[in-house]
Formats: sequence, C-alpha cells, structure tokens
Amino acid sequence: MRKSDGSRTLQGARESAPPKAGRLPSPVVRSHLMTEKELIEKAKRARLKAYAPYSNFKVGAALLTKSGKVYTGANVENSTFGLTVCAERVAVFKAVNKGDKDFAKIAVVTDRNPPVTPCGACRQVLSEFVKDLRIVCANLEGKVERYTLKELLPEAFDRRSTDKT
Ligand code: THU
Repeated sequence: MRKSDGSRTLQGARESAPPKAGRLPSPVVRSHLMTEKELIEKAKRARLKAYAPYSNFKVGAALLTKSGKVYTGANVENSTFGLTVCAERVAVFKAVNKGDKDFAKIAVVTDRNPPVTPCGACRQVLSEFVKDLRIVCANLEGKVERYTLKELLPEAFDRRSTDKT
C-alpha cells in the first residue's frame, strides 16, 4: 500500500491511528489473571465430563500455568479399575503434551465435604514438574481448602533420590 509520503506498508498490515491528545494509550499491559474462583469454576465444569460409572465419584481439575493458561481434566475410569486415571493427572498430561510444565496452581472439585485432596499418585506426578504448587480443594457447596504440594507430599521422590552418594 502506497502512502501519501510515497512510503509503503505491507499489504494487509494495519496502521495504528496516532493517539489523540489526552487519550494516550496506557503503558500498563493488562493481562487477565485467573482468580481462584474462576479456576474452581473451570474445575467444576470439567468435572461434568468425568467418566465414573464404577465409583460414581466425579472429580474435576483445573491446572493453571505460571503463564496464565488453564488445562482441565476429569477422571476416566475403566472396568479393570486399575487403569483408571484421576482428574489431576488428565490435566497434567494435557498440559505437558502441549509443552507446558510450569504450573502455579491446581483446583480440584468434588461433591464431598470436606473437599477431597489429590491422591498420592497425583501428588507425586505433580511434584515431577513443580515443587511450589498451590493446591485448592473445593466442593460443590463452595467450601474451599488450600494447601501447598510441599505440605501434602513433604518427602517426594525425585530424580535426586536415585543419585549415588
Ligand atoms: N480420583 C481422582 O480423580 N482424583 C483423586 O485425587 C482421587 C481419586 C478418582 C479416581 C476414581 O475414578 C475415583 O476418583 C474414585 O477413586
């Protein structure tokens, strides 16, 4: 595209209008920070997709990355029982397969009171990627309990555990 001064801009590129006096664009970049309430809401919605015909215990999880992305999961059961995968691990595996491993917080929602905390296997899987994860356990009545992964799995097995002394 040829401009009046003879210079060209790329076809399709949009030229931004010069800022009007008194209405300068804010230098603050507004990023949407996910609130705890929103994360719980996402876990609650994910829970509706649980496949739990054997236990009838539906779990939803929403995993927030430090960059602000959210990956959700719900438990998927199997007739062999042993092949069942928890909601938390579904969310973790989805995130890792998208290249995201830097987690900030996970919300877990069930219909139980008090709210349920992640099982030991899920705690271990979460600890593979971050040590300072925050864990928010909520139920459908709106009760919320907060933990850190360190509190729920203080002596996690990690790759240093196999180091020779
Ligand atoms: N479950 C989860 O999804 N997350 C947990 O942390 C604990 C258990 C699921 C697995 C199974 O489908 C059902 O709950 C009953 O154990």
